[in-house]
Amino acid sequence: MNEFHSATGPTSHNRAMGSGGAMADLLELDAEVLAPYLAELTGWLAELSDAAPARILDLGSGPGTGSLVLAHRFPRAVVTAADISPQMLHRLQAQAALRGVTDRVRTLQANLDETWPQRDGEGPYDLMWAAAFLHHAAVPHRILTQAFERLRTGGLVAVTEMDFFPRFLPEDVGIGRSGLEARLHAATDTRPPSEWTDELIDAGFAVEARRPFEIALDRTQAGPALNRYAHVCLAKLRSHAATVLDTNDLATLDTLLDETQPHSIARRDDLCVRTVRTTWIGRRP
Ligand SMILES: C[S@@+](CC[C@H](N)C(=O)[O-])C[C@H]1O[C@@H](n2cnc3c(N)ncnc32)[C@H](O)[C@@H]1O
Repeated sequence: MNEFHSATGPTSHNRAMGSGGAMADLLELDAEVLAPYLAELTGWLAELSDAAPARILDLGSGPGTGSLVLAHRFPRAVVTAADISPQMLHRLQAQAALRGVTDRVRTLQANLDETWPQRDGEGPYDLMWAAAFLHHAAVPHRILTQAFERLRTGGLVAVTEMDFFPRFLPEDVGIGRSGLEARLHAATDTRPPSEWTDELIDAGFAVEARRPFEIALDRTQAGPALNRYAHVCLAKLRSHAATVLDTNDLATLDTLLDETQPHSIARRDDLCVRTVRTTWIGRRP
């Protein structure tokens, strides 16, 4: 199971609502630690766009980490963040207020599996962003078809998915048997990788790129939030590990998660976040 994806099921409104706080925390930490990657990704979008996007729609925005990065990258754009969860959108509004962008970042509570609401004066959009969202859709084709219809000619959709859950630990963590994290992931991260090229083409898009971003950031690059992010991610995997790891590995993992221990994740300076995020770029011809 991949925890980023398991906390909100494909069409489950209730699960999306109920999981808001912890999931929003994780997504905000993710964006803080992976800020260099997000800057690279949005810089690439700026290069691909035929003009600076003025109207942007963030699909399945969560707490709006993508919306806020896009608002920063494109300072004249109005960004609409759409999500099924009011809790997520409240988090986004709080962050937008802190950053002084409430005039340019709007929220839209909607179940995007249904027909999208149309607000007066909104759209067509220049850019749509769907990060870690499309795999939640009941019928991704329906989402992409509506995205196509609401984009202007020449507009872009950027679909991003996580290839695998982030890893942090060195092979040898100083206690227990080496290779713990690999065994933990092999046992818990069983989601098949997403592939959206054909779905984008079927919805009418010209697929201009499919780019995997290979991310590897140590503490000097990722900043002090790296230890907290690693702790949250590994604690989430731990909650699924009881029946899939042997008792020695479980004991090692518990020691790593115990902040009082000298080898704990909280105290380490040898963490490095490693993950791959793939982005597909579709353009409305
Ligand atoms: C894994 S989170 C990704 C959030 C954000 N895009 C990010 O990258 O941080 C998926 C988001 O999709 C939302 N979601 C799931 N199903 C949805 C639906 N049918 N309509 C709208 N939003 C939905 C969830 O509430 C959640 O905020």
